[in-house]
Amino acid sequence: MPELVRVRFLPDNLLVEAPKGTSLQAIVDHAGADITFGCRGGSCGTCRVRILRGLENCSPMGGEERDFLRGMEADADQRLACQIRLLGDVDVEYLGVGL
Ligand code: FES
Repeated sequence: MPELVRVRFLPDNLLVEAPKGTSLQAIVDHAGADITFGCRGGSCGTCRVRILRGLENCSPMGGEERDFLRGMEADADQRLACQIRLLGDVDVEYLGVGL
């Protein structure tokens, strides 16, 4: 049995379990969580989220994601949902492209 991680989507309080290492994008698609994707490649910001809990459980940022978030002066707890694999439990709030 693979180890499971729990993702809580806020503000809907939707709780989803998935095997450790699953991409957040796949979990969103499967669960129908309220996060919108655009490019799915880390360059548009449509999928920007705040990790309210478990930032350390997200896979490390790649260069493109880091550059994008730096460019918009995003807070350190913000990530691009299309770029994350989950290594443990997280609480996620959708932000999108706005401030
Ligand atoms: S969908 Fe474009 S950055 Fe994630």
